[in-house]
Amino acid sequence: MPTCFRFLFSDLLVLFLLLLTASLSSPQPLCHQDESLALMQFMDSFIIDNHTFLSSCYPKTASWRVEAEHGRADCCSWDGVECDPHTGHVIGLDLSDGCLYGSINSNSSLFRLSHLLSLNLAFNYFNYSKIPSTIGNLSRLTYLNLSQSYVSGDVPSEVSCLSKLSSLDLSYNDDLNIGSLTRLVQNLTCLEEILLSGVNISSSVPESLANLSSLRTLRLGSCGLYGEFPIRIFQLPQLRVLIIANNEDLTGQLPEFHSSNVLQALSLYHTNFSGSIPNSLWNLTQLTVLYLSRNSFDDLSCLTKASSNHTFPHLQYLGLFSLNLTKFPNFLRNQNKLVLLDLSGNNIQGIIPKWMFHASKENLQYLYLFNNLLTGFKNSRDVLRLPNLRMLHLHNNMLQGSLLISQIPPSIQDLDLSNNFLTGFENSRDVLPLPNLRMLDLENNRLQGSLPIPPPSIQYLYLSNNFLTGFENSRDVLHWPNLRVLDLRNNRLQGSLPISQIPPSIQYLYLSNNFLTGFENSRDVLPLPNLRMLDIQNNKLQGSLPIPPPYVQFYRVNKNAFTGEISPLFCNLRSLVDLDLSYNNLSGKLHPCFCNLSQSLIVFELRSNNIGGTIPNAWAKGCSLKVMNLNHNQLQGRLPRSLANCKELEYLDVGYNKIHDTFPLWLGTLPELKIFILRSNGFYGAIRNIQINCTLSNLHIIDLSHNNFSGDLPAECFQQWNAMKLFGAKKLQYMMDDYVGILYSISLTAKGIELEYERIQDELIVIDLSCNRFEGEIPEVVGSLKGLHILNFSNNALSGHIPSSLANLTGLESLDLSQNKLFGEIPPQLAQLTFLEIFKVFNNCLIGPIPHGSQFERFPNSSFDGNPGLCGSPLSKACGDSLPKPPNEGNQGLVSPFEFGWKVVAIGYGCGFVIGIVIGQWVIARKQDWFVNIFRIKK
Ligand SMILES: *[C@@H]1O[C@H](CO)[C@@H](O)[C@H](O)[C@H]1NC(C)=O
Ligand SMILES: *[C@@H]1O[C@H](CO)[C@@H](O)[C@H](O)[C@H]1NC(C)=O
Ligand SMILES: *[C@@H]1O[C@H](CO)[C@@H](O)[C@H](O)[C@H]1NC(C)=O
Ligand SMILES: *[C@@H]1O[C@H](CO)[C@@H](O)[C@H](O)[C@H]1NC(C)=O
Ligand SMILES: *[C@@H]1O[C@H](CO)[C@@H](O)[C@H](O)[C@H]1NC(C)=O
Ligand SMILES: *[C@@H]1O[C@H](CO)[C@@H](O)[C@H](O)[C@H]1NC(C)=O
Repeated sequence: MPTCFRFLFSDLLVLFLLLLTASLSSPQPLCHQDESLALMQFMDSFIIDNHTFLSSCYPKTASWRVEAEHGRADCCSWDGVECDPHTGHVIGLDLSDGCLYGSINSNSSLFRLSHLLSLNLAFNYFNYSKIPSTIGNLSRLTYLNLSQSYVSGDVPSEVSCLSKLSSLDLSYNDDLNIGSLTRLVQNLTCLEEILLSGVNISSSVPESLANLSSLRTLRLGSCGLYGEFPIRIFQLPQLRVLIIANNEDLTGQLPEFHSSNVLQALSLYHTNFSGSIPNSLWNLTQLTVLYLSRNSFDDLSCLTKASSNHTFPHLQYLGLFSLNLTKFPNFLRNQNKLVLLDLSGNNIQGIIPKWMFHASKENLQYLYLFNNLLTGFKNSRDVLRLPNLRMLHLHNNMLQGSLLISQIPPSIQDLDLSNNFLTGFENSRDVLPLPNLRMLDLENNRLQGSLPIPPPSIQYLYLSNNFLTGFENSRDVLHWPNLRVLDLRNNRLQGSLPISQIPPSIQYLYLSNNFLTGFENSRDVLPLPNLRMLDIQNNKLQGSLPIPPPYVQFYRVNKNAFTGEISPLFCNLRSLVDLDLSYNNLSGKLHPCFCNLSQSLIVFELRSNNIGGTIPNAWAKGCSLKVMNLNHNQLQGRLPRSLANCKELEYLDVGYNKIHDTFPLWLGTLPELKIFILRSNGFYGAIRNIQINCTLSNLHIIDLSHNNFSGDLPAECFQQWNAMKLFGAKKLQYMMDDYVGILYSISLTAKGIELEYERIQDELIVIDLSCNRFEGEIPEVVGSLKGLHILNFSNNALSGHIPSSLANLTGLESLDLSQNKLFGEIPPQLAQLTFLEIFKVFNNCLIGPIPHGSQFERFPNSSFDGNPGLCGSPLSKACGDSLPKPPNEGNQGLVSPFEFGWKVVAIGYGCGFVIGIVIGQWVIARKQDWFVNIFRIKK
């Protein structure tokens, strides 16, 4: 045996023995008990709650406890825990998506794990707690991930001291404040990944980011960034992902890109970048994601004129929306790896080119072509050869004629063809051969006749605003076991509603504005156990009210012909938020148990029925009512005192009933009250200032007319109605309830006629105390309610002078003081009220000249009748010589433009609320409902 071999052998033997002893003397260490304890305490500070999370989460910590019961816990073997193999210290903790629910305190045991290098708590629910400053204890951290974990407040400065950090992900915490981005990163020189998308930063992007030479990922989408984006960032040698989309005030320019650039993802949409897109963009050969949309680029020729040998060889996601493209860019022919293509919001006209559906586009899953001017496909016999297409969004185009369903690939899941001019389906008799279809949106087309039959996979079916008359073969085909939303509003459905055909899975059922007359087989309770929304407003439904299933939230059956009583079974609907029974012929009484609904009910609309009896009086503390409208019924008795428990009440209308009561003294305890109507009842007595707390600082509209109120006008109340003191609206807004999303509507007497306001402009301010027995003088303080549009004190017994302070009500459009006992002159200052369209003082004891100039001369004589002492235009009685000449009299050339101007302003301004915009209140946010559903966290 050669010596060298023997030597080698003994050497190996020694080495082997050495290794053996080494491994015996240092076995895999168990975890340190203090760290194991810290982890257990950390776990115990949360509720493991997979019901809080709609999407599935996986509670890694749940298995920890079991382990611990065996006595000595080896936390290194726990799910989500990583230990250093030599020291046994916990160096990694990954509890992302771990169903943790609760808050993190600064004394949380987590911060005792001082050896941690990597911490991932993303996708948990930390209940908007602050990131504790004790995070600074984890000074070795290189990886910190709190993405979408519901933390809030300021990011503590200690985070900027974690100088070893290479990856920082705080994205999608919309209540988190970064403070200063400059400060945050100034010490974090090792950063390779910065993910702050969806966090409110609201600052400019610091130049110092361009000094982070190791930066590979920079995600700053939707951060409220502004200022100039540092161009040097594009040139960072390692940068692969750059996402700064959705920062509308962020300006910048694209640099020349070198072929060495390794960018893989570039997203700039919804920013304010300008200049041209450089031709060197084609040097970005690594790109897989490119979004260049809605910027101010003035030169797109790099894309639109690119010859067909230009290509991004790896490109998968391409967004070129809102760029004013007029045709499909040619280079798309060669982009054969595309998974997503978004060309929406351009001006692309005509037909979709054939090559879009070429076999080479087989990877395409998402095709967004909405908001263009497309008229159809190249050739009706073209079949979309896109075997993987899942979403096709072609809404808001000019598609016409019959839809050739055979062109749509069977893989399709979401098909949105709304807002086109489609008239029907080819072969509509068959069930649509789209076995994967989940969402079909055909609203706002011209579909006629019977409905197409979607496949059993359908979940969302939107067919509103068409001319549909019913279901084809409806008897047996409505087998849609997954249907959640069915929207058939504004069609021509007639006859009985085939409730038995509506699948029990339905959650949102919209059938308003049709000609339905009844429910087929209507039993007592609708057999739809999952129903949350029943919208059958404005049909011709008769008979008694259908009783909805227990979890219904929205029950809108107004504008039908329902009769009979409201069943006490309604009191069991403990999820009910919106109950709208208005404009029917319901009679009977309101059962006292209705007050049981007060914890959930927000809108209670009963106007225009024949309900008698008294209003139930057991509204308990915590009552959530915002709108209660009982107008035009036969209600008697008193206004229930317990309504004072409904602190959210904004709109209370009991007008046109037979309520016999004094003025509600508890009114001042309703801080939100905006609209308060007692019109046409039997209210009586004085509104005594001293007794009442009437700090209704949000009050916009009060109508006490046609009652028997007496005594002085409540001057001290006027004094406290602060909302009426603001003049001029900041923006056009309509009053609406922001949870249920309905617009408030109201009927008011304005300008002499009663109008139904389908929308109420938020700043409409009205006081109507007419037709009572008020006496005494008109208080000066009325002149401080500068926001007033309509003021009506007519038909009372008011005496004294018209206060000149009314001239301060510069927005006033209608002033009615007729049929009182007012004396003295009409204050000449009232001529300043340039918006005044209606002015009535007839049947008083006024004397002296009618103010002149402006519009006073055009009010009809009847406005002034019955005041023997009045004189001057428009009355034929002249005032005599004592009258001073108005300064501009005789200069017709100057007067008429002013009058013209007044008219235009008055009409333009008045239309908003006076003429009323008759758009139905059925404008409800259907997609909002849907979003609530897919939102990840149950609120
Ligand atoms: C979450 O926060 C709310 C409000 O601060 C509080 O009422 C609730 O108890 C918290 N939940 C947990 C689990 O800490
Ligand atoms: C942690 O601090 C909270 C208040 O921030 C306190 O209620 C709690 O008792 C403290 N827990 C421990 C273990 O000190
Ligand atoms: C943060 O954690 C989430 C959930 O595990 C993950 O999707 C995300 O990619 C992580 N972020 C980083 C920068 O690793
Ligand atoms: C973002 O933060 C700024 C200042 O911190 C604040 O003014 C702004 O309202 C916030 N924006 C949002 C959408 O929260
Ligand atoms: C970036 O680094 C350069 C060179 O180290 C330095 O001069 C400059 O001040 C740094 N810029 C910022 C904004 O930190
Ligand atoms: C009306 O306005 C004038 C000038 O702005 C002011 O002096 C006066 O006090 C006001 N009157 C009332 C009643 O607010």
